[in-house]
Amino acid sequence: MDGLKVIVDGMRSGMDGAKETTGLKNVSSYCSIPDLTDYDLSKLLDKPRLNIERQRSFDERSLSELSIGLSRGIENYESAYSPGRSVLDTPTSSARTSFEPHPMVADAWEALRRSLVSFRGQPVGTIAAYDHASEEVLNYDQVFVRDFVPSALAFLINGEPDIVKNFLLKTLQLQGWEKKVDRFKLGEGVMPASFKVLHDPVRKTDTIVADFGESAIGRVAPVDSGFWWIILLRAYTKSTGDLTLAETPECQKGMRLIMALCLSEGFDTFPTLLCADGCSMIDRRMGIYGYPIEIQALFFMALRCALAMLKQDAEGKEFIERIVKRLHALSYHMRSYFWLDFQQLNDIYRYKTEEYSHTAVNKFNVIPDSIPEWVFDFMPTRGGYFVGNVSPARMDFRWFALGNCVAILSSLATPEQASAIMDLIEARWEELVGEMPLKISYPAIESHEWRIVTGCDPKNTRWSYHNGGSWPVLLWLLTAACIKTGRPQIARRAIDLAESRLLKDSWPEYYDGKLGRYVGKQARKYQTWSIAGYLVAKMMLEDPSHLGMISLEEDKQMKPVIKRSSSWTC
Ligand code: GLC
Repeated sequence: MDGLKVIVDGMRSGMDGAKETTGLKNVSSYCSIPDLTDYDLSKLLDKPRLNIERQRSFDERSLSELSIGLSRGIENYESAYSPGRSVLDTPTSSARTSFEPHPMVADAWEALRRSLVSFRGQPVGTIAAYDHASEEVLNYDQVFVRDFVPSALAFLINGEPDIVKNFLLKTLQLQGWEKKVDRFKLGEGVMPASFKVLHDPVRKTDTIVADFGESAIGRVAPVDSGFWWIILLRAYTKSTGDLTLAETPECQKGMRLIMALCLSEGFDTFPTLLCADGCSMIDRRMGIYGYPIEIQALFFMALRCALAMLKQDAEGKEFIERIVKRLHALSYHMRSYFWLDFQQLNDIYRYKTEEYSHTAVNKFNVIPDSIPEWVFDFMPTRGGYFVGNVSPARMDFRWFALGNCVAILSSLATPEQASAIMDLIEARWEELVGEMPLKISYPAIESHEWRIVTGCDPKNTRWSYHNGGSWPVLLWLLTAACIKTGRPQIARRAIDLAESRLLKDSWPEYYDGKLGRYVGKQARKYQTWSIAGYLVAKMMLEDPSHLGMISLEEDKQMKPVIKRSSSWTC
């Protein structure tokens, strides 16, 4: 019996017991998706209790609370997803609750539905922006994988999973294409950044063109797409209880191909994933090459989701073992070296350099003089965050919203780290939230540094777009992180801010300025993920039981459980 096997069985079997109690439909007795306990836990957050301010995390809840919450959760689940419920235009979430729907909600649903894209009569996604006033369409008329995630969550919450299923299957087909940039063949598992449906009204045919980076500005690689695809597959499974999709040979193969890409061996000395600049939501040069936090957090979350969904068959088994090993190393590395709080900053400030051998404290040879001035003021006494990037002699101290929120949702952040991130957001509200949630990165880079880092990018001038701009889409991630850490009041404050502007400003893509007060210089209007992000935030706060589809409980596998299992052989 090797040690790893024990851990794998512990990790997977620890989640198996939940099957009977979830109330999930279509859960067969041999189901192999083992993370249903996450679902249970999400259901523990029954509405009335959560809307009362609460500072405690899930883990602190007492057992009696758990059992009450659980039975209520099942009721909620059944009423929300009863089979045969007709799909109406009215969002069920507001109809189901006692909350008075905000007038913006109906407008948002209408706008979201307008952005739907069909392929041969079936909805398969939503376009990035429905902005007719904009002269330049560029690729905003395409379905972006990352942009579709909040749309998908909105549809799932509203009991409309078919479009999500169609999207997952369509993008899976695209993954199967041969992908080339000029004469260079891309990895088999690469998922597209975006795709477009072309309708031929004469021949009455629909065709698809996909972009894997070969048409994208700067030919950037969509490293995040595959991770979002896996995360969305789990969200679909969790929300519908339909395990059959993830279990199809096609989906299993799709996951394995993505895993093969990101787990391949190379020259790496770190478990983090080495990336080129512009490989994620920030899809142009912004100095995020190396080991950007956004990708590391998504990588971690995708590994955990894949671990839960991969079958332990002949082909899946090897991947499961590799995933487990990588998760151990990755969580250790991230929690130790990417984490920055007052104490850690003080330690780095006093680092010795040029240390050789295993006893080195300053492992990456960070030169204290490279610590930017701003971070000393920015760092509150209470609070912390995962920094933007860590590599030899290079720490990017900038704050990035997406990576930190995903770190909370995936439980890459320990419960203490998750609380500290929320403390930081509260302590630095003006800087990170200001008048429009949420800053994509902080602070902006300016002057000479801007020239060097962005290559003089006129779109990424200081406090604009990716360079310290404010992106309403991030509201859903912030809200989910708030719910998970038991701080819904923070989300409420942020949503209130968004509600005072978003509709009036026609759902811009981003806002500019130190406080996010101005509609972005080149921001598209009716940007779909701004619309969907608002809806998801709103619906999750109203009914926090939806958190489970996008959140993973603390990874017990990081503390190996020695447990006897059916496959125990020695
Ligand atoms: C911009 C954003 C990118 C997004 C795309 C479509 O390029 O930087 O993250 O996916 O627009 O909205």
